[in-house]
Amino acid sequence: MDRNLALEFIRVTEAAAIAAARTMGRGDADLSDDAAVTAMRTAFSGLDIDGTVVIGEGERDEAPMLYIGERVGRASSGAPALDIALDPLEGTSLCAYGRAGGLAVLAAGPSGCFLHAPDVYMEKVASGPLGRGVISVRKSPTQNLIELAAKKGVPVEDLTVIILDRTRHEDIIREVRAAGARIRLIQDGDVHAAIATCHQETGIDLLLGTGGAPEGVLAAAALQCLGGEMEGRLLFKNDQQIERAQTMMPGQDVHRVLSINDLAYGDILFAATGVTSGDMLKGVRFESGGVCETHSIVMRAKTGTVRFVEARHNLGRKDPSIR
Ligand code: FBP
Repeated sequence: MDRNLALEFIRVTEAAAIAAARTMGRGDADLSDDAAVTAMRTAFSGLDIDGTVVIGEGERDEAPMLYIGERVGRASSGAPALDIALDPLEGTSLCAYGRAGGLAVLAAGPSGCFLHAPDVYMEKVASGPLGRGVISVRKSPTQNLIELAAKKGVPVEDLTVIILDRTRHEDIIREVRAAGARIRLIQDGDVHAAIATCHQETGIDLLLGTGGAPEGVLAAAALQCLGGEMEGRLLFKNDQQIERAQTMMPGQDVHRVLSINDLAYGDILFAATGVTSGDMLKGVRFESGGVCETHSIVMRAKTGTVRFVEARHNLGRKDPSIR
């Protein structure tokens, strides 16, 4: 992986974030998503990579752009062949309603580095580096909390668990409360939530619950860069979903527990730009004179280098999605 691609990828997430941020608060999640997708796709066309989307906006028949299997980048001779996992707007409702934590997200790596996850739910557990070899989807929330607290040398009462606010999580929430840990309930955005477990200043220790499987792969890519821990298990509503998973993951047991390495592995680059302000990144801010400010993170699994990039764009002079 060419490390110089880091800045190129940030350009792509910045373009998606700026376009989405223009629609913030309109109450129209599709409008926000369309804006981000269109800008991200346009920005990709300026990048000299031979990319294949493996985690994207959906199947070709349901997503006109950035669908699974779509080739992105200029692909000139010698351009690196890369698998791409993306979510132009992670947390569409967060943007549509101006809530915290919306992100434009992109991860890339050599062929085969990402699980080709179907668009089903995934049971997830994620934490920072101290959770390595400790937390597991095989363990109950109580067990995870007791063992993580012991590893951190703190009482369970000092741990904070981040959980998507969904009725399907009522049992988990009840159990975490009974164990004595604190809870942060969020409306959307479990990629951001997983990453937050690796940033001490967020005060978040553990992510528990069920979210999208594609988002699980993106979170794992980020956590590989940050040295965090994650496990997942695909959840299926019907036989059709199981067959779909078997087609996308040939020869694999689609019901098995997926380690962080099963989800994302190798020389991965991860980039994200804040759309709406969250724990980790500020959202896009528009200023007078056609200037806007973005805050991004870019990191690499091989080296563990994490960069925060603050950029000021002069929109009057340059459309951020066009080179
Ligand atoms: P979108 O960006 O597609 O809106 O997803 C937001 C999200 O909250 C994800 O972060 C999460 O994995 C998933 O939705 C949870 O799904 P659901 O909203 O069905 O509970």
